[in-house]
Amino acid sequence: MIRTLRLKYLLTYLWIFSISLAGLAQEIPTDPAIIKEGESLFKANCQTCHRVHQKLVGPALADVYNRAPSIDWIKAFIRNSAAVIASGDEYAVKLYNEYNKTQMTAFTGLKDDQIMAILAYIKDETIKGPPQAQPQPGPAGQQVTTGVPESYLNVILIGLVVILVLLVIILGFLISALKRLIDQKPLSEEDRELVHSTVTLSTVVRSKGFLFIVVFFATTLAVKAVINGLYSIGIQKGYAPKQPIAFSHKLHAGAYEIDCKYCHTGVLKGKSATIPSINICMNCHSQVKTESPQIQKLWAAADWQPETKTYGPNQQPIEWVRIHNLPDLAYFNHAQHVVVGGIECQTCHGPVEEMEVVQQYSLLTMGWCIDCHRKTDVNAKGNAYYDKLVELHSKQSKQPMKVEDIGGLECAKCHY
Ligand code: HEC
Ligand code: HEC
Ligand code: HEC
Ligand code: HEC
Ligand code: HEC
Ligand code: HEC
Repeated sequence: MIRTLRLKYLLTYLWIFSISLAGLAQEIPTDPAIIKEGESLFKANCQTCHRVHQKLVGPALADVYNRAPSIDWIKAFIRNSAAVIASGDEYAVKLYNEYNKTQMTAFTGLKDDQIMAILAYIKDETIKGPPQAQPQPGPAGQQVTTGVPESYLNVILIGLVVILVLLVIILGFLISALKRLIDQKPLSEEDRELVHSTVTLSTVVRSKGFLFIVVFFATTLAVKAVINGLYSIGIQKGYAPKQPIAFSHKLHAGAYEIDCKYCHTGVLKGKSATIPSINICMNCHSQVKTESPQIQKLWAAADWQPETKTYGPNQQPIEWVRIHNLPDLAYFNHAQHVVVGGIECQTCHGPVEEMEVVQQYSLLTMGWCIDCHRKTDVNAKGNAYYDKLVELHSKQSKQPMKVEDIGGLECAKCHY
């Protein structure tokens, strides 16, 4: 009896010992350079579905290296989760069911030390703890008003009212001073009556001052209306139409940091940035926030059958209202500006990641295009195509090569 107990203890010791050995061999690195590498790997491959401290499409990964069966298990799962699940692994199957049978992407190409780098980043973030001030997404569907900002107009109106009140007070002082002056002089009975006549409603309404105030307010309101009108005629800046589904960039691109290019795939390829198809939304929304009426609209458009997890035959595209629109005579190419020119979306579209409803940020006039082509240096670094041009240019001028120097002001470049 005692012997078997001893044996049991011995085996347990051996077991713990071997586990800590395995643990030693698989120590998660703490070198800052590796953590940095892990961060960029995480952002490039995992960020669309995972956060460290927050459940997204997949689980929050904080502490996963302690929770999952082993580091080797994590490696196998990342490389091919489907295989681990198919093998009947209890932990994997439970997780898979918990996440509504969402398949994680297989990362067959990730090497051992790359996965260890990602884990190093996750561990570093786990130790740091969740960030304090999470950006709070505002209420969806909030409208952005066009025209002169309401707050400015209110300030102007309040200022005018204050000036009017001051005028009335000063007038009051003047009247009483004048009365005192007149009283010192001998006056006829008639004049005295006039001076001391009481103010009645009808005298006020008939007075010039009243007329002035009425005319003044009427003109102010008319001017406000005209200014508002001017701001929205022709010029489309600030245009923010109501969309069929209350999609928020502030939430998706801001709070959840989804890359613009994940949805606007066209920017890398050509002219149009493209609006994402329903399939891209459904990558997440077949599981995320499914109870929301807005997501139900998305499901209806996709004809999504939640029971069978398939799309039905009656799909209709969502009719997003187009915001930016150049006239047909002008040619603009996204890839040229974003990929070749290296210009950030925000330079032309403003802080979209803060917008609940997207609005047109730039004027999009010919003057706007030309102005930037005059000012902006060509991004020629690492682009062999430009080497000759740069060489030619630097012979003629000391200034860096601008877009205008490569023909950015030629009519035919922008007009068919
Ligand atoms: C397409 C979305 C998606 C991407 C991209 C993705 N994952 Fe996952 N991941 C999931 C889902 C969903 C689960 C939950 C298990 C399941 O449903 O298969 C999961 C589970 C995991 C788990 C197990 C978590 C636990 O609680 O034990 C780890 C570890 C993991 N992912 C790591 C990664 C890493 C590292 C990357 C990037 C290289 C990555 N994932 C990219 C969706 C994704
Ligand atoms: C999750 C997907 C998604 C992401 C991420 C995303 N967008 Fe969008 N974007 C959309 C959808 C859907 C629309 C059309 C509905 C709307 O206007 O809100 C749109 C519309 C736009 C428009 C207006 C298009 C028009 O009609 O003229 C611009 C500009 C834009 N996005 C820029 C960006 C930028 C810049 C980013 C990154 C900071 C970004 N988007 C990230 C899905 C996305
Ligand atoms: C990478 C994942 C992802 C993609 C892709 C994505 N979303 Fe979302 N979406 C989310 C998350 C996460 C939330 C916030 C859920 C929450 O509040 O709990 C959300 C919230 C929403 C909401 C708000 C729902 C509500 O009632 O609060 C709408 C509407 C929405 N998404 C529409 C879209 C549309 C349309 C697309 C495609 C253009 C899209 N989403 C693509 C992850 C995604
Ligand atoms: C140099 C300025 C500039 C940059 C940089 C830029 N855009 Fe645009 N964007 C425009 C103009 C101009 C239009 C209107 C194009 C038209 O009507 O043909 C537009 C239109 C759009 C549209 C509307 C629909 C479409 O398919 O054209 C979307 C969406 C969009 N941009 C997203 C983006 C995203 C995302 C990025 C960054 C990856 C980006 N843009 C970078 C100037 C820019
Ligand atoms: C934020 C600055 C910026 C704005 C705004 C801008 N561009 Fe450009 N554009 C560039 C840069 C930088 C390049 C050079 C890209 C490259 O290296 O090829 C370029 C190149 C071009 C080219 C190719 C020129 C050539 O000689 O190859 C065309 C065409 C063009 N832009 C059209 C437009 C139009 C149309 C608009 C307005 C709707 C516009 N751009 C607005 C910065 C801008
Ligand atoms: C960098 C790009 C670019 C260049 C270079 C350029 N344009 Fe334009 N042009 C535009 C854009 C964009 C518009 C549309 C602006 C709008 O809708 O307000 C436009 C509009 C116009 C219009 C007005 C059309 C209308 O219907 O109102 C005329 C005319 C015009 N361009 C002529 C020219 C001539 C002539 C040249 C050469 C000297 C030239 N453009 C060079 C981008 C360019």
